[in-house]
Amino acid sequence: MRIILGVGGGIAGYKAAEVARLLGQRGHTVQTVMTAAAEEFIRPLTFAALTGQKALTDLFAIENAIEHIAVAQQNELLAIVPATADLMGRFASGLADDFLTTLYLAFTGPVVVAPAMNVNMWRHPATQANLETLLARGHVVVGPEEGWLACGMTGAGRLSDPEEIAAAIERAGNPRRDLEGETVLVTAGPTQEPLDPVRFISNRSSGRMGYALAEAAVARGARVILISGPVHLAPPRGVELVSVRTAQEMRDQVFEQLGPATIVIKAAAVSDFHLAKVHPQKMKKTAARVSLELDPTPDILAELGRKKGDRLLIGFAAETENLQQEARRKLESKNCDMVVANLVGGTETGFESDQNEVLLVTRAGETLRVARAAKREVADRIFDETLKLRLALHAADER
Ligand SMILES: Cc1cc2nc3c(=O)[nH]c(=O)nc-3n(C[C@H](O)[C@H](O)[C@H](O)COP(=O)(O)O)c2cc1C
Repeated sequence: MRIILGVGGGIAGYKAAEVARLLGQRGHTVQTVMTAAAEEFIRPLTFAALTGQKALTDLFAIENAIEHIAVAQQNELLAIVPATADLMGRFASGLADDFLTTLYLAFTGPVVVAPAMNVNMWRHPATQANLETLLARGHVVVGPEEGWLACGMTGAGRLSDPEEIAAAIERAGNPRRDLEGETVLVTAGPTQEPLDPVRFISNRSSGRMGYALAEAAVARGARVILISGPVHLAPPRGVELVSVRTAQEMRDQVFEQLGPATIVIKAAAVSDFHLAKVHPQKMKKTAARVSLELDPTPDILAELGRKKGDRLLIGFAAETENLQQEARRKLESKNCDMVVANLVGGTETGFESDQNEVLLVTRAGETLRVARAAKREVADRIFDETLKLRLALHAADER
């Protein structure tokens, strides 16, 4: 693919060089365009060396006076890394006062925007309004991530991982619509089982894997119903969100929403236990030992296994040991078509991470290892295998 990499003047500019390198390594041609501010942070020579093409900077100092139009026409995708608050504002309002913003207006292909800025700049209503405008134009926005920012603050504003940005660029340039006509029901996040009006039992699930699955399914053309426990994530655009808190609420909503679903993915980490008796008032601190009596929660996956009909049912197994055996056991005992198994606890992937590394155990008898990758990538692999599995199961039914 021929890609324009637009670089804004932010502290994350050096990471744009890594994105340029990754895209080149994957066989894409990259033309860098830098704002004047970007040149304060990283030199055009870095991009020229990485991409083999001179980085374009100045609208007026070029031989061919309409080069911005030619660049717009000769390339297939425009990616902005990092997108400054200023660039987002200029794009949103249609200003064209330098090479990159003029090119943006002349460009008609897909646009990917990877913002990075101070958390307060990101949260400012002006930036959020500009974001809405860019999203409404159908641009793909990658990140920003939560984390430590160069300004010393912590929060949303950090540029997404270069690998993730490169993958999003490739997806935007080659959109697959192979889930069109499907209705995907995804459950995500933890559940909270109340102890008293202010306390609850829960787990470390962040909901990221389920949200990545919902996002991937929407991007591939599915109708998506996302039933989510309490998480700190914005729902992906285009999903129908149903928020729940307890395992019982999760169960009730799953069966309420099941009707139209053709694929059901149970990525939620539903509590296995809930309090036998919820205290109506806040429990008082005492010096004495307190015992809690726990009852099992409804087994949603097993009930789905009994009631799924023609639907494909995909379960998750988060284990701390014996991954493959546990996944196969779960597949058989819960009548799943696929179990996605991941190791949790003490690993760099899993619950609270942006990345995951999983085994896919299928009813067709296969076990596939998906190497460590961004959860959105893993989500796409899960759908690739789900669609293959459907074909294999259909073929088996016809024999
Ligand atoms: C040290 C420093 C770091 C900056 N980092 C960012 C940043 O990460 N994100 C951002 O939106 N602006 C950042 N700015 C402000 C932009 O550089 C400024 O808004 C500039 O006008 C952006 O120009 P451009 O959008 O044309 O690249 C930073 C400024 C300085 C001096």
